[in-house]
Amino acid sequence: MKTKDGAGQLIQNKVGSSLPLIENAHGVWLVDSLGNEYIDGCSGAVVVNIGHSHPRVLRAIKDQADKVTFVHRGAFASQAMYDTAAKLSEATGYAGSWFVGSGSEAVEAALQFALQYFREIGEERTWFLSHARSYHGNTLGALSLSGHARRAVAGQLAYNFHTLPSPYESQTKSGSSRQMDVDALLAGVEAQITARTGDVAGIFFEPVSGATLGANVPPAGYLEGLRRICDEHGILLIADEVMTGMGRTGKMLAVDHWGVRPDLVALGKGLGAGYTPIAATLLNSRVLDAIAHGSGRIVGGHTYGGNPLSVAVAREVLGVLLDEDLVAASAVGGEILAAGLRKIASRHAVVSETRGLGMLRALEFHNPGLRVGAVAEMVRLEAFTRGLVVYPTTGGFNDACIIAPPLTITESETLELLERLDRAVQGVEDALNPPVL
Ligand SMILES: Cc1ncc(COP(=O)(O)O)c(C=O)c1O
Repeated sequence: MKTKDGAGQLIQNKVGSSLPLIENAHGVWLVDSLGNEYIDGCSGAVVVNIGHSHPRVLRAIKDQADKVTFVHRGAFASQAMYDTAAKLSEATGYAGSWFVGSGSEAVEAALQFALQYFREIGEERTWFLSHARSYHGNTLGALSLSGHARRAVAGQLAYNFHTLPSPYESQTKSGSSRQMDVDALLAGVEAQITARTGDVAGIFFEPVSGATLGANVPPAGYLEGLRRICDEHGILLIADEVMTGMGRTGKMLAVDHWGVRPDLVALGKGLGAGYTPIAATLLNSRVLDAIAHGSGRIVGGHTYGGNPLSVAVAREVLGVLLDEDLVAASAVGGEILAAGLRKIASRHAVVSETRGLGMLRALEFHNPGLRVGAVAEMVRLEAFTRGLVVYPTTGGFNDACIIAPPLTITESETLELLERLDRAVQGVEDALNPPVL
């Protein structure tokens, strides 16, 4: 590490830290510069849904790069942008797509579309509700919606929107749910809305918890109840599907598990699947028509939003997802993964829960009085040394690791992943409870 001014220090999560150099990747496999092979058991940060180095996408990158990589969306459209918007509408049932560069930007855009929607229909609503334990992104608006350790960085600059109790049930080690009082949760939502006297514009939620808690699934009736309450109060329901969308949970959108149709949906991660930074906000016709029949203008946007290279990549990623039937593969493969995780949970006392939907799964661990997150970090490191990458939660509330391999993982690769994870958890158990000699 060089520290002199101008010496070009690379800043990573921990200043001065160094990580293995990645050399190449294919399918679920990563290879570092020393030739070590890892199973990408969490698709990076739950991103690489179609696996690494998919030949179709590599070809699409080259083909588009040979034509045009950038024009500004204020001056030109591209066929790739039209195609991707049409494909997304067909796959999700939403009327319109707004392309941005990251999940945080997609959430910020959803915030701004909601504010604009109410201005267009002549109402002044500026307040949002979201959940106490949630992650919606690293920009100020998204952090204001988030109940996550990262929010502290924004301090007083962030609004305190994240006030609803998290609706996630804890589960037993065998995967069965403990009951939650859905009526009480929904009564709490109503109370918050009443307290804001007509000021609530939107309610944000993660259909399945991501980086904050790790793959917690809401109880039956909760999301349906949120939809009903939003309808009764004219509020927009806004799903953050940045992690859960694009087939990750075994449906194209995770809300499809409950038949709930939010007004706005933020997509990210799996849309570019690691091949390019791209994200999108989906609008239903209620919101789109209000804008189209109102001012007809969207005052906003980011320089790289909808650039031809990124939308061409997203078009191909979506093509692969559909042509290879990877949403169904996520549902089927997710059950194999879940069964293996339950077996690991039953073998190790340090595991307190296993849960999730489709290919978005997690193990949660007992923490014997160490810093919160320390056990999950031990599991991550033990797995890493055994050639497996898992994704510890970072909300500051629990010790869990997300297991979310590419949806293309084969059954034998899943068994290899589980074998490595089992040994990693054993390694942590041995470190926490050294044998008495
Ligand atoms: C649910 C959710 N929303 C938003 C984001 C932010 O996305 P990005 O990191 O691409 O800005 C994330 C990232 O982890 C996420 O999991």
